[in-house]
Amino acid sequence: MSLTRTLGTCYYPEHWPEDIWAEDAARMADLGLIWVRIGEFAWSRLEPTPGDLHFDWLDRAIDTLSNAGLKVVLGTPTATPPRWMLDRHPDMLAVDPEGHPRRFGSRRHYCFSRDAYRDEAVRITRLLAQRFGRKVHAWQTDNEYGCHDTIYSYSDAARRGFRDWLAQKYQSTGALNHAWGNIFWSMDYDSFDQVDLPNLTVTEPNPAHALEFRRFSSDQVARFNGAQVAAIRAHSDAPISHNYMGRIVEFDHFTTGRQMEIATWDSYPLGVLEDRLEDSAEHKRRYARQGDPDFQAFHHDLYRAVGENGRWWVMEQQPGPVNWAPHNPAPLPGMVRFWTWEAFAHGAECVAYFRWRQVPFAQEQYHAGLLRPDSVEAEGFAEAAQVACELKDMPRVERSQAPVALVFDYDSAWSWAVQPQGEGCDYFRLVFELYRGLRKLGLSIDIIPPDTASVDGYSLVLVPGVTTLSKPLKAAIAATNAQVVLGPRTNAKTHSFSIPVPLPPAIPGLDVTVSRVETLRHDMPLAAENGGNVKLWFEQIKTSDEIIETTENGAPILVKSGHLSYLAGWPDEVLLERILIRAASIVGLNPQPLPRDIRVRNTGKTRFTFNHGPMPVEFGGQIIPAAGLLWTRT
Ligand code: GAL
Repeated sequence: MSLTRTLGTCYYPEHWPEDIWAEDAARMADLGLIWVRIGEFAWSRLEPTPGDLHFDWLDRAIDTLSNAGLKVVLGTPTATPPRWMLDRHPDMLAVDPEGHPRRFGSRRHYCFSRDAYRDEAVRITRLLAQRFGRKVHAWQTDNEYGCHDTIYSYSDAARRGFRDWLAQKYQSTGALNHAWGNIFWSMDYDSFDQVDLPNLTVTEPNPAHALEFRRFSSDQVARFNGAQVAAIRAHSDAPISHNYMGRIVEFDHFTTGRQMEIATWDSYPLGVLEDRLEDSAEHKRRYARQGDPDFQAFHHDLYRAVGENGRWWVMEQQPGPVNWAPHNPAPLPGMVRFWTWEAFAHGAECVAYFRWRQVPFAQEQYHAGLLRPDSVEAEGFAEAAQVACELKDMPRVERSQAPVALVFDYDSAWSWAVQPQGEGCDYFRLVFELYRGLRKLGLSIDIIPPDTASVDGYSLVLVPGVTTLSKPLKAAIAATNAQVVLGPRTNAKTHSFSIPVPLPPAIPGLDVTVSRVETLRHDMPLAAENGGNVKLWFEQIKTSDEIIETTENGAPILVKSGHLSYLAGWPDEVLLERILIRAASIVGLNPQPLPRDIRVRNTGKTRFTFNHGPMPVEFGGQIIPAAGLLWTRT
């Protein structure tokens, strides 16, 4: 596949008078943009009352943009069902864990399990696909599944759906009772109709019940998305995408990813640093205008794995201050260009800026666009123009296999969430810390799904926190010559969330038995013999394998047998660095701790070096400007 690196933007023709569309389109094209995403919130304008379709304006908007040479990504408007939908389907609203229906007046107020709403979503999608299927160049389904905490709904429809889902899966309540261990508190059922949703229980629900509800909810997203995809496919050959988010793990993106050609995500580096990361105040202050040095890269690598054949985009790129985080600073000059190139360095086909023009009304008035509300260029505009110019010298998308693979598993994220066993024990955080540790050693990483059947070509494979290893991954781990680091919590649970016997991790080739688990207060880490600590999570293991790292008291932290290693705790930064340097050195990866703000990414024929810091840094004999990057052809 021969692909070109491109730029785009998100545009809302319905927000602006029609007589400025043509000028907007011409300015987009002059700027060097190729793609423009439209339509994803426009349902009330497309169908002001039920069945009364007003598609002409969208037709004219698509023509105007196309005539300027732009390619349109059409979003299905199903994240914002109009007010009349509620009158038709009063029970379409999602219900929060306290049992309160969520209200109309913002967006994403629907319940994935409500069939009548899904039918409406498919209907509008089909109508749009029939009308525009041959006119547009790509599609986006809905908008940001999971945004505003919207995957779990405790509605009647969800309850009915969950019961059916369980009945199909278990076939008999006896099987379900046995699998879940319902005898524990006399929680046995004798009909699937007795099974409720796992909210509003007196104390915690059975974790097996909670985990199954998460799996069910994830399947509901896939069902909803799959129905839209089918409706589009019947009338259009254009590739289909969805715009995922950062650190949303409530549904399995690999499952929805397999339904579509392109994975995209919405990258708001400054907003998420403030809003979604646990780091210290010092870290957040240092990177307040640049964003976390690893968060964007992590998601670039994750969504490369979610897209078909590695196809992925940034569908929404922060172009200036946003409006929704606790504080919303402006990026350092240069960061918009920087973020764009960072995405390209990780193999993006397109980076689209959200949004074209700052909107002076409603919820996002202080959210920057490439243009100000008065249509004057905002700061991000010139940086986008610079990238457009630079792309002339480096137009092709480059992808190559990285030397390191890191497994990411949504099911494990849910397992950790339903039974964290200690405050702060969060799966995403564990995986992300390992990812950061690898990056700080200058390594490039591929994230891979948990059912990967082969890890051929990788030198080092990390499998942190996977609570139930899949059969294919088990076989791939056994067959590889790569160094594989497993743990903590590997194979800690059966599929139905019990502790398996023989005890975990039960990995052929490793003689390790987890005999006890403890979790640790933030202020009581366990010191490691050679420096650093185990924090949060620690497993007491019995082993005859070679012991590589121990606590000061001699308890094994890391053991090794052949190409397999087992990590029995959650390492802090210092311990992790030592573990990763050792593992990477064994396979000749030459890990080198980088200066604090520097990250590198090797891709195809280019080595990119990024300085995430607020000051220039000398590195590799060159000065990397603050918020700047360099590339060298290899
Ligand atoms: C995204 C969303 C956009 C817009 C943007 C603001 O989450 O998809 O519609 O709200 O955030 O940053």
